Amino acid sequence: MFITMKKNYNFFIRHFLVLGLFAWLLSACQPKTEHGKFTNNLMAKMTIEEKIAQLNLVTPTSKTGPFATKNVLEKLKEGTAGNVYSIMGSPEFIHERVSLADSTRLKIPFLNGLDIIHGYKTVFPIPLGLSCSWDSVLIEKTARVAAIEGSAVGYNWTFSPMVDITRDPRWGRVMEGAGEDPYLGSIIARAMIKGYQGDDLSNPSSLMACVKHMGMYGASEAGRDYNTTDMSRLTMYQNYLPPYKAAIDAGVGSIMTSFNDIDGVPATANKWLLTDLLRKEWGFKGFVVSDYNCIQELIAHGVAANYKQAAELSINAGLDMDMASESIVASLKESIGEGKVSMKQLDNACRRILEAKYKLGLFEDPYRNYDPKRAEKVILSDNHKLLAREATCKSMVLLKNDNNVLPLNNESRIALIGPFANVKNQMFSMWAFRGETDSVVTILNGLKKQSSKVTYAEGSFVTNEPVFLKKSRAYYNEEEQKEMLANALDLAKKSDVIVAVLGEAMNMSGEAKSKTDISIPDCQRELLKKLKATGKPVVLVLINGRPLILLDDLQYADAIIEAWRPGTMAGDAVADVLFGKYNPSGKLTMTFPRSVGQIPIYYNHKNTGRPYVDGQRGGLMKFKSYYLDELNAPLFPFGYGLSYTSFEYGDIVLSDTLLIGNDKALEAKFSITNTGKYAGEETVQLYLNDLVASVARPVKELKKFIYNLENQKN
Ligand code: GLC
Repeated sequence: MFITMKKNYNFFIRHFLVLGLFAWLLSACQPKTEHGKFTNNLMAKMTIEEKIAQLNLVTPTSKTGPFATKNVLEKLKEGTAGNVYSIMGSPEFIHERVSLADSTRLKIPFLNGLDIIHGYKTVFPIPLGLSCSWDSVLIEKTARVAAIEGSAVGYNWTFSPMVDITRDPRWGRVMEGAGEDPYLGSIIARAMIKGYQGDDLSNPSSLMACVKHMGMYGASEAGRDYNTTDMSRLTMYQNYLPPYKAAIDAGVGSIMTSFNDIDGVPATANKWLLTDLLRKEWGFKGFVVSDYNCIQELIAHGVAANYKQAAELSINAGLDMDMASESIVASLKESIGEGKVSMKQLDNACRRILEAKYKLGLFEDPYRNYDPKRAEKVILSDNHKLLAREATCKSMVLLKNDNNVLPLNNESRIALIGPFANVKNQMFSMWAFRGETDSVVTILNGLKKQSSKVTYAEGSFVTNEPVFLKKSRAYYNEEEQKEMLANALDLAKKSDVIVAVLGEAMNMSGEAKSKTDISIPDCQRELLKKLKATGKPVVLVLINGRPLILLDDLQYADAIIEAWRPGTMAGDAVADVLFGKYNPSGKLTMTFPRSVGQIPIYYNHKNTGRPYVDGQRGGLMKFKSYYLDELNAPLFPFGYGLSYTSFEYGDIVLSDTLLIGNDKALEAKFSITNTGKYAGEETVQLYLNDLVASVARPVKELKKFIYNLENQKN
């Protein structure tokens, strides 16, 4: 009995284990989450064509790329496109198009995206400007306002934040990012994603964020857009990848691939990037969308013979959605039939996209974002404009202030001169195309609100560079230029102080806007020189989208305010800073070179084996790492920014001189005293230098900072 029992007992245990294992396997395959169950049930009803449609993202406009999708409305209506972006118009206009989902068999709602990069209707400073505030709480608020406004008119997805680290101001897209430091860039990435997505993606005021451009796009060789990038994995992990990783850890819903190749393989078809790194190493659960037409561009890259092969390479590398090329929708069913792509790959991609729509609450209420009444209430609200004014004040960087020319006394007679002093649309960037230009406060209007002694003259055309005259049909006329100059000088001579508002036009930075000459256009520099020759103090206010080469212009300005592309509240904020209502506290997040020849130039550089100490002008044959004809140092370094007051730092006292073990904390104590006569904010920056490591480390690395001392710690 005992043996029998024992035999039966064993038999029973064996079967129990097998059954248990089977039940576990079955349950392991069953989704545990609500959205998992939902998408599985939905996918069980979907045809292969309906699944493929989910991978298709179309656009009715060529506003941000080489072409528009043909017959967008038909494709949305017939269900061959499951997502759309850049539908622009009134909430009703957008709603009419997004409602075409109801004509499809399963009524799967569309992702409805837009490039809301630095505000929707209320436009904030460009991201590079915002980053100079170092104020992650403020930056999160600006993204929150952008989401509140954009979601109210029907969008549920924004192609932002752009977190590409960059060290080359020739690249026009530096304006979209947070500069050159991976630590600061990571903090800003997290803040923007939190602002866009809020605490709950299904909240009607949330937008799903899309971190871009994965990866290393900011290292486009020679600063030429779309160009190859080539770097070691060490450099990728230490300097370029951290902000993307921070975005994923912050729960970003989607990622956009970049145009460039990495290790010779374009990002959109790069399996190491999209599967090994993103999925296996970082555990990214959202979906990956290509940038504009990137799949088709694999042919031009020379890694695909045709769009069908390009689509196969992309899907098999781990791409989930095709922006604008329509390669996937045109060929994937055939590729699956040929066994070149597995049904599993299609299901994975489709599931990720459906889960994103589920998390956005679109299956509960596809039109949760359509709320004209809310739009009316929130767009360009006073609170939003107030935040924009604060953000613009905090993004400005005081680069020079000889003899304390600033702040201005509003009793002084001010000659406001320059091609950007009285224009609305030039306060935006090429990405703020949905911004409300009429609502812009020009710099002239802003100053006039705070002083009755402002006179204005345009003074110069924006540029006499032929390439821009052809492209923008702008005209440059020598006679008119002379007349404008004479008029401006006449005004200047009758003033106590000159405020010159100079810089770059909106179309001189942004996508496909790389330049080899990043100085202020010559005709404007001529004006600046002549203004200085009047003997009046000159305050230069810069309107630009990238660090400029200012070395030769410095002598013609007593004070310089870097105002970037300042957005809706430009004039009020510039006036606040010029008249001292706001004491500028911005710090550069990207190096300003002395010359283009120094590029790439960045603060966290290596020491080399033959370091050169700047200032010791190298004689010949010094066998040091330096230039014969230029200093190594930049004109203005990362982290630089003046104030109307002065701050004195006491000696730093460390809690220990020896740190053993990774979990030890080092405390650095120091005193900081405002020694000037204005109240002010100071962003305190802590840098480390690892003197002996297994690999050469930068001479300094930002490891901590505290901005706006009174209120925040980051
Ligand atoms: C553009 C840009 C990308 C943008 C996308 C959609 O080519 O590279 O940043 O989000 O197309 O407009």
